[in-house]
Amino acid sequence: MKLNWAERWVVNNFVRVFEQRLLIRRLKKMFPLPPGAAILEIGCGRGAGALMIHKEFKPAVLHAMDLDIDMIRRAGRYLPAAHKRAISFFAADVLHLPCRNDSLDAVFGFGVLHHIPDWRSSVGEIARVLKPHGAYYLEELYPSLYQNFITRRLLLHPEEDRFYGSELKASLNQFNLFQQDALEIRKIGMLGVFIKKAA
Ligand SMILES: C[S@@+](CC[C@H](N)C(=O)[O-])C[C@H]1O[C@@H](n2cnc3c(N)ncnc32)[C@H](O)[C@@H]1O
Repeated sequence: MKLNWAERWVVNNFVRVFEQRLLIRRLKKMFPLPPGAAILEIGCGRGAGALMIHKEFKPAVLHAMDLDIDMIRRAGRYLPAAHKRAISFFAADVLHLPCRNDSLDAVFGFGVLHHIPDWRSSVGEIARVLKPHGAYYLEELYPSLYQNFITRRLLLHPEEDRFYGSELKASLNQFNLFQQDALEIRKIGMLGVFIKKAA
C-alpha cells in the first residue's frame, strides 16, 4: 500500500534519516555482514536507507525497490552522483520480487511489512530470495502505534490481519527465518535480524 501525504512527510524527513542511521548501526552490531555481499532493500522509499546500507555494509551489489514509482524517482534525485551507479533502484511489489531463489546474502526492510495487506506472503517471498544463512534485517511497527486513536485518522494502513511480535516471529519461523538478535519495544515495534536456516 502506498503512503498518504502525512506518512510521506514523516519518512521523507531529516529526522527519519537520523533515526535510520542509528537503526542501521544497531543492526550492523547485531549481525555484521562481510563486505562484498549481495543485498536488496525492500520498500526503500526515497533511498536514504539504501545510501546508509551502502556506506555501512559495503556490498558488491545493492538493489533497492519500492512499490511507488514516485519514491523511486525521488531516490534518483536524492542520491549523490558518486553513489548513483552503486545502487540500482526499481519499482516492484515485494509479493513478486524479480530475484532468483537463494540469490541474496541479505534483505533489509524498514517499516515495510506493516504496509502490506498480505504481509505473510511477503515474508515467504523474502525467504525465497535469501541464500541459506542469508539475513533479513527488519524494523517493523505494531498497530498500537499506527492504528491508535490519533494515527488512524492521519495515516493509511491495511486494517485486517495485523501483527505484533508473536505473529511476526511465528510467520518468520514458518518460512525458515530464525531470530539472530532482536530489540523489541512492547506494543511499539521490533528491530531485528533473522537468519534463513539451511534446508
Ligand atoms: C513507511 S515507508 C518506509 C520507507 C523507508 N524504508 C524508510 O524507512 O524511510 C514504507 C514504504 O514501503 C513501500 N511499500 C508498501 N507496500 C509495498 C509493496 N507491496 N512492495 C514494495 N514496497 C512497498 C511504500 O511505498 C513506502 O515507500
